[in-house]
Amino acid sequence: MATESSPGPRREETLPPPSRVGAVVPAAGRGARLPGAVPKQFRPLGGLPLLWHPLYRLARSGAVGSIVLVLPPGSLGALGLPKDLGLSVQVTEGGARRQDSVERGLFALPPEVEWAVVHDGARPLLPPALVRACLEGALETGASLAALPVSDTVKRGGPGGFAEGTVPRDGLWLAQTPQVARRELLEKALRAARDEGREGTDEAALLEAIGVRVRLVPGDPMNLKVTRPEDLALAEAYLALSKEGGGA
Ligand code: C5P
Repeated sequence: MATESSPGPRREETLPPPSRVGAVVPAAGRGARLPGAVPKQFRPLGGLPLLWHPLYRLARSGAVGSIVLVLPPGSLGALGLPKDLGLSVQVTEGGARRQDSVERGLFALPPEVEWAVVHDGARPLLPPALVRACLEGALETGASLAALPVSDTVKRGGPGGFAEGTVPRDGLWLAQTPQVARRELLEKALRAARDEGREGTDEAALLEAIGVRVRLVPGDPMNLKVTRPEDLALAEAYLALSKEGGGA
């Protein structure tokens, strides 16, 4: 029999209302590792432009109230936006580095937004539940990221293509997105990075650098970043699998 002290089913902590949560989707990279006539963000995946998938999945999470999509200058015409998202999408132009694109996206979020969910446009298979898990993970310190524990043995490569050492994998995680932060904290981290000439390949690195504790939230292996040509084929296969399982 359940007593007051017995742990009941785990409840989702109270998340901020969607009107206070905005997503920034950086998709302004050149995609140099996936060459082709069409930039990778606009390639078809499951019959839709790759970039529409993360937009639908962010909308399906039910946790975000607005989206800012950050694109290469002049590229919206090549993409268009889905008509049936049910969310407002602003489009803005990206900058030279990922962090510049994120900063521009953050700037374009509606003023009432207090929480920013940054999700790579190149990760089409975002599980909608992961958005909620990352938001929940960020409640304590104001920041979180999805990440996967490293399961392979990690080598450091040296000159001439030889292994120079083995890095203990205990405590190592591979960063994914979503990366969630209180808007004011992320703005502060980006400002500090600019002032101090710091470059980070994700938001968490910039937040860590100003002393914010960033909660690790278990990510999903299917939430891959489409980087190289073979990733597109893998993403198609994962998409088919998730449809078989009743997903999108
Ligand atoms: O370069 P990386 O693979 O880390 O890019 C991750 C995401 O950031 C991609 O969706 C890419 O389009 C985006 N990006 C951006 N602006 C840049 C560089 C990358 O929006 N200048």
